[in-house]
Formats: sequence, structure tokens, C-alpha cells
Amino acid sequence: MLREQFPGLNVQVHGKPLVYLDNAATAQRPQAVLDAINDYYLNHNANIHRGVHALSESATVLYEQARVSMAKLINAPTMKDLIFVRGCTEGVNLVAQTFVRNRLKAGDEILISHLEHHSNIVPWQILCEQTGAVLKVIPMNQLGELELDDLDQLINEKTRFMSVVHVSNSLGTINPVKKMVQAAHDKGVPVLVDGAQATPHIKVDVQDLDCDFYTVSGHKMYGPTGSGVLYGKTEHLNSMPPYHGGGEMISKVTFESTVYNAVPAKFEAGTPNIAGGIGLGAAAEFILAAGIDKISARDHQLRVYTEQALKQVSGLSIIGNAKEKSPVFSFVIDGVHAHDIGTIIDHCGVAVRTGHHCTMPIFQYYGLAGTCRASLAFYNTEQDVDVLVESLLKAKTMFQ
Ligand code: ALA
Repeated sequence: MLREQFPGLNVQVHGKPLVYLDNAATAQRPQAVLDAINDYYLNHNANIHRGVHALSESATVLYEQARVSMAKLINAPTMKDLIFVRGCTEGVNLVAQTFVRNRLKAGDEILISHLEHHSNIVPWQILCEQTGAVLKVIPMNQLGELELDDLDQLINEKTRFMSVVHVSNSLGTINPVKKMVQAAHDKGVPVLVDGAQATPHIKVDVQDLDCDFYTVSGHKMYGPTGSGVLYGKTEHLNSMPPYHGGGEMISKVTFESTVYNAVPAKFEAGTPNIAGGIGLGAAAEFILAAGIDKISARDHQLRVYTEQALKQVSGLSIIGNAKEKSPVFSFVIDGVHAHDIGTIIDHCGVAVRTGHHCTMPIFQYYGLAGTCRASLAFYNTEQDVDVLVESLLKAKTMFQ
């Protein structure tokens, strides 16, 4: 059983077995990831890319193997197209400042969508402040889907870049990003896809999507926190200036000038999160071995089961009912505040997130301060969902 490979699911909370339904915030890690991190610190602890000694070389091999595993997971044409970053937030900021900034003048437009996480809004607002560019937004509808009928008008002669989320962290909506990339490319506009919530749930193929950039966060896909990759098309990465200056991103330094290293080292200044990168590689191998198609199929079963089960709670409304969605359930219950629900069900061992989930504009659209969000992963069980429902019924009784 794959679930048994996740020791973090076996803990007790308030004396009750944990029911972990906060996977969109961060997933649990399989033993293989914990072992890979441990193995690095126990058997290969050295800096990478710098030493001629045996430990440094073996640590470098492990780190670079992880890059290969990540390239395989998202079908990047070459491992050199992947830059290790701290997560999607760093990936988006890097692209904003090194790829898009140089292409902007006042009045130019950057296009995002209403379903974005703050990490795919704020970096663009900072860039707009710096350049005088204008942020435009693809609208959403009540179902939590993007309204794409007018996409061709939104992408106009002023649009310089589009940055869109693949899977919404708050509502679970899976956006038709391939179609959106195509529409942008038809007008010569490059595209970044934020894949934070995609790699744990669905097959990602950056060549098939034909996106210019794709960001991945390690901790959402059963890997370590503070790990991730940014994929970029080779020609873009080669043309971009570095983001951070420091060791390892250079090939020659004098006081007069610096010659930068080749990609990807050009973007990887300083000693990286070596254990995190190695753990991320193990997470990629875990998903590849488990089979993403099987994971998606299990997600679908859980989604159908949870949708039915939540109907037992009268007054509960699911926010976000897109046709294509991952097993993420944002919901409100009449007369009970989301934070109160979260606190009460925590005492039943159930972990959910409450609030705006770093997507305030989505909840402004719905006129809500926030929701309770149960976000499932393939290792959750129908019994987990039953405990959620029981605990919600208990919370309702306490408040009504
Ligand atoms: N983006 C994370 C979430 O959705 C933190 O909870």
C-alpha cells in the first residue's frame, strides 16, 4: 500500500488518529524522500560542484541525478533546462525580474488570471510598479472556471507576458493551460505556468504544453520544503541575465567584471539546498514509480466520494465546482465561521486549512472572507472523508 510509505500519517493529534486533509498547503513525505535526505547527511555530506574529494563528488552526483529525475517527471527536453529554486514563488520572481522586466515599457501589459495564488500576482505587481506596465486579469465564473471566450481580446498588441496557474490551490480547478499557451503563442506572447498544485495530481509534460516556463514546488509533491524547480526553454534561459550574484554562477571574476557560468549554474548562486534537491529527486522517482495516471485515477475516486459525502452536512456549500478539478474542497457552512470549523474539527484529528488560502481575489469574487478547505491526496481514504463529515456534523451541532 502506498499510504503505508508515509510515516507522517501515523501520528496522533489531540489523542485522535490524524486525518490529514491539508495537502494543498503541504503534502506528507514518503519514507524514500526521508531516506534520501538522511543518506545525504549521513553518507555524502559535502558541498557540491566545488570539491575534488570523494564526498563532494558523490554529493554532486546525487544532486544532479535529482535534476534528471525532475526533468523526467515533467518531460523537459534536457536536465539543463531545470533550475533548482526554493519553490514556485522564487521561480515566478526570477522570471519576472530576469526575463520579463527587460521586455517591458510603461503601458505594456502582463496577463494573469483571477485564479492565481498571491505568488503569481504580487511579483507582477512589483514589476508593474518598477516599469509602469499594467496588470490584466482573465476573469472567472461562479463554477471557479476561467472565462476564456474573450482570451483573444485580452491578449492584445500590448501584452508582453502571460502567467497562469495550472491547478488552483483554493478551488482545485484544472485550467486548460495547453489551449491558453497556444492562444498566447499565436500572438507571440510567452507564457509561464505555475505548476505548484499540478505535479502531485496530474501528468505534466512541458513539451506538450509548449509553455516557456513552468514552476514546481517540492513540498506539494511529497518532497522537502524549500525545494523546487523552474523549467525554462533553453533559448530563454540562455538569453536571461542572472537573478542572484555569488559563488558557482560564475566562470571568471575580476574586480573589473564577471563572466557568468553556463545555464543552469548561472541561476544557482551560493550553496544550494542540497539535501532538499536530493529529496526532491526522490519525490519525483516516487511519483514516477507510483504512476501519475494511477494517482489521478485515485484522486478522481476520492473527489466523487467526497462530493457525495459532504451532502450529508446540511447548509454546507462547496465553493468551486469546476468540471475539471483536483480533490480540493473549499466550503462554507451556514452560520458557522470557517476558523471555528477548523478549530473544532482539529480536535477530532482532522487537519484542514481555513481562510483565504493566499488567494484573496478569488474570495473577493465570491464575497467571502474565506473558506474551510479540505485538500486530499491519493493516500487519503474514504474513512478519512467519513471522519471529516462526522466532525463537521459535530461542529454544526455545537454552533447551532
Ligand atoms: N499555497 C499553499 C496553500 O494553498 C500554502 O495552502
